[in-house]
Amino acid sequence: MNAENRCFEIDSKGKIDRDNADVVTNPDISETLADIASRRADRRTVLKGILAAGIAAGVPFARSALASKVSKNTTLRFDEIAHEITPDHHVADGYSADILIRWGDGIFIDSPEFDPANLRADDQERQFGYNCDFIGYLPLPIGSNNPNHGLLCVNHEYSSVELMWQGANASELSKEQSDYDLSAHGHSIVEIIRRRGKWRIVANSQYNRRISARTTEMLISGPAAGHERLRTPSDPAGRRVIGTLNNCAGGVTPWGTILTCEENFDQYFGGTLPADHTETENFRRMGMPAGDRARSWYKYHERFDMSKQPNEANRFGYVVEIDPYNPDSTPVKRTALGRFKHEGATVWINRDRRVVVYSGDDQAFEFIYKFVSRRRYDPADREANMNLLDDGKLFVAKFEDNGTMRWLPLVFGEDNLTPENGFHSQADICIETRRAASIVGVTPLDRPEDVEANPVTGRVYAMLTNNSGRTEEQIDEVNPRAHNNYGQIIEMRPPGEGPDSDHTANVYEWDLLIVAGDPRNPEHHASYHPDVSENGWLVCPDNCAFDNQGRLWIATDQGSAQERNGIPDGIYATDTIGDGRGLTRFFYRVPRGAEMCGPFFTSDNKTLFVSVQHPAEGSSYADPWTRWPDFKDGVPPRPSVVAITKDNGGIIGD
Ligand code: FEO
Ligand code: CA
Ligand code: CA
Repeated sequence: MNAENRCFEIDSKGKIDRDNADVVTNPDISETLADIASRRADRRTVLKGILAAGIAAGVPFARSALASKVSKNTTLRFDEIAHEITPDHHVADGYSADILIRWGDGIFIDSPEFDPANLRADDQERQFGYNCDFIGYLPLPIGSNNPNHGLLCVNHEYSSVELMWQGANASELSKEQSDYDLSAHGHSIVEIIRRRGKWRIVANSQYNRRISARTTEMLISGPAAGHERLRTPSDPAGRRVIGTLNNCAGGVTPWGTILTCEENFDQYFGGTLPADHTETENFRRMGMPAGDRARSWYKYHERFDMSKQPNEANRFGYVVEIDPYNPDSTPVKRTALGRFKHEGATVWINRDRRVVVYSGDDQAFEFIYKFVSRRRYDPADREANMNLLDDGKLFVAKFEDNGTMRWLPLVFGEDNLTPENGFHSQADICIETRRAASIVGVTPLDRPEDVEANPVTGRVYAMLTNNSGRTEEQIDEVNPRAHNNYGQIIEMRPPGEGPDSDHTANVYEWDLLIVAGDPRNPEHHASYHPDVSENGWLVCPDNCAFDNQGRLWIATDQGSAQERNGIPDGIYATDTIGDGRGLTRFFYRVPRGAEMCGPFFTSDNKTLFVSVQHPAEGSSYADPWTRWPDFKDGVPPRPSVVAITKDNGGIIGD
């Protein structure tokens, strides 16, 4: 695929693929992969041989599953639902899936009523935003484990404007529509409580808060804060910025904050760069200027116009930390965790109490990172934990051909991260993290999405969603298929087990948990536990969560390929150890056109919150595939958070 000529993609329905995730902006890809191909030829041959043998025998597999005793003894006790694309959502028998909050629902006692015929930016600032994604549930009171009362913290990644206004196109919005769109992006914090089994919103809560791309001021901290590359006319100090963009997944910290992640922020930066601008290569690696993909905002707000304020684009692409327990707190962009298209950021407290944060960079042929704090987490001193993420070491993952992997440090002055290569301080590494990672020589992956650690085993799992652009010459063991439309799940094993595992180690082992796709179709070269059912296989793993028993719950996102693949997106669950390892089972499905995001369990595992994002995307305002969840004429489909509970009050999955 030619990255230079392919600044946007129009799919079969004419919809612009604004997230750009299939496009290759990594210029080193050919050289890197040629090297890898020659180094790994022997092992790849072995892997391909095993794959072929497995398929030929009708026995799809994950490599470790070969070693374990295979049986039908999954620990997951629900009856699977059908692989059907329908206008409504659906959960396994014996469970309820209740709408908790929808786009446009008021989150304050005096919020205006949702009026889809009259969408106003100031109203949206007081209502739940669009396209809910990451969910964090933080118990009340702070420091408790309360599973029935807490703060629901939800990302609003972007908006599907073609389903909000008749005839709207994100590149041709009016000023009023653009402002509404800005307000629909960001994050919501809403107090919720469970009474008599049902969750509801507490509208008069002191904690309720909208964080938007239009109005919310944020601080910038860490090595890049104040750097001249972050200075703009409205912020000559380079330390304050309005808004956070394209907040996809995220994480929670044990000190009670939210990490929300800026992913495809390139689509907001339009206009042209001045000729020979010093940031040209930096911006090109992120897909900017966005050209025809650009949302209209830059026409009305100078900071998004790269011909006028190019440095603004260096102020997005970070992990943002929010204290939801303090509604007056200022969110902070933590530059020490690097600048790239952060899918999520998940926290593991290491056995020595240093804080480890894992993060995937969601674009074809990009990388997986981890951050290790210098200071230690102190459970007794919340204030001292608040700036732990400003000081530490950033690493990037290199997968070796012998089943081991290495975390390579991104440190100024080491491994050619020097002035000769344009790095003059750690700030430059935090701003151009992708280029730094390419220089130290890492493994380009098939779109790394969520990365989460299993609380029981300590093993870490990365969802790779797909990469149709990978060629036969570019396959390796961790990306074993060319034209990968279906994705795979990597298992990374730090030394040690469970709480004793060492996530600060430089060397881990790795394996593939599943290779997604239809195991009955030999062309997919899929690989699961052999007992996976006709409803249990999945494609495009995206977000994920672990329950207390260490079972993995996987959310899928096929994008517009949902129609071609003929199966819906939803939640699948699997054991990761024992007889049920790799035996994925289908639990919940979203309405047609939606993707599944944000799975998050309460501490008792009796509620699973999920985000249903962009229902009906791919259809039109006048004739949407579904008007979920209202199903009323004149009311468009509404992205919503759903609370899934078991009807007998029990633990989900048991
Ligand atoms: Fe926003 Fe990578 O999904
Ligand atoms: Ca995602
Ligand atoms: Ca997603």
